[in-house]
Amino acid sequence: MKGIILAGGSATRLYPLSKAVSKQLLPVYDKPMIYYPLSTLMLAGIREVAVISTPRDLPLYRELLGTGEELGMSFSYIVQERPEGLAQAFVLAAGFLHGEPACLILGDNLFYGQGFTGMLERAAASARQGACIFGCYVKDPRAYGVLSFDAGGKVVALDEKPEHPGSNYVVPGLYFYDGTVAGKAASLQPSARGEYEITDLNRLYLAEGSLQVQLFGRGFAWLDMGTCDSLLEAADFVATIQNRQGFRMSCIEEIAWRKGWIDSDRLYRLGSCMGNTDYGRYLMELSQTHFNLLSPHFS
Ligand code: DAU
Repeated sequence: MKGIILAGGSATRLYPLSKAVSKQLLPVYDKPMIYYPLSTLMLAGIREVAVISTPRDLPLYRELLGTGEELGMSFSYIVQERPEGLAQAFVLAAGFLHGEPACLILGDNLFYGQGFTGMLERAAASARQGACIFGCYVKDPRAYGVLSFDAGGKVVALDEKPEHPGSNYVVPGLYFYDGTVAGKAASLQPSARGEYEITDLNRLYLAEGSLQVQLFGRGFAWLDMGTCDSLLEAADFVATIQNRQGFRMSCIEEIAWRKGWIDSDRLYRLGSCMGNTDYGRYLMELSQTHFNLLSPHFS
């Protein structure tokens, strides 16, 4: 399975913060925003990732993330000329995907909670044939893709930003699809707001009877970081968890090491390249620890 991070758009809701800098490069406490979605793809076991962004911002992503080799991964970079919708990602990335299953994550989405790695593995398995998306309960669902259920709890409809939502369960920006996704995305027509909607893509899978939906429980955190308040809330959330535990959230170097994609020497070197920073010291110290029964797992 290959991964795609969609990190384009104009982010006007964050102006002037995002006027000269891409939103998904802004700091969220101690790391750039894009580290959070990238870490989710890594937890799903995905090593080949394409970053999609604007012609202006793509060079900065390349500078930040490089080829991926340092993490035992491979990164590609794809331009989206105009923000014409999330589903367009699969058309732009068709050459990168080569008919393989794909996981798309939005560059401003943060996921955190116990058991997440297992959910990702189940999602990746169901997307060998069909699609898997998630549902998350929110107080006000009207700004999202919304799920409707029948009396038996089966998903029967998906609506994008409905005025009268069918439930409080919304679809977060994390989607798993089989190898037919690029063809399906290419068949979509733009919506009334002029975008190739991910919700329309999901509806195609629903109509085929091949859409799986996993619901997050109340103990699971899903945050998006598209406004000044949500950016601050996300930074506070990361700081709170990290300072309590002493473990870093969404630390891409740590995940690559725990996955066995890089060895302890490489992890040490990545830390030492960061100079005299807490982040760098964290990596160097980690590289000298050994797994044991009490070493925290990913789940
Ligand atoms: O966050 C989850 C929601 O994301 C879903 O529930 C909705 O179904 C889905 O349509 C989407 O809604 P948003 O209103 O959040 O989409 P937005 O247009 O804000 O785009 C999400 C991110 O993707 C944003 O950070 C910018 C980026 N983007 C967006 C578009 C339309 C791109 O990189 N390219 C694009 O063409």
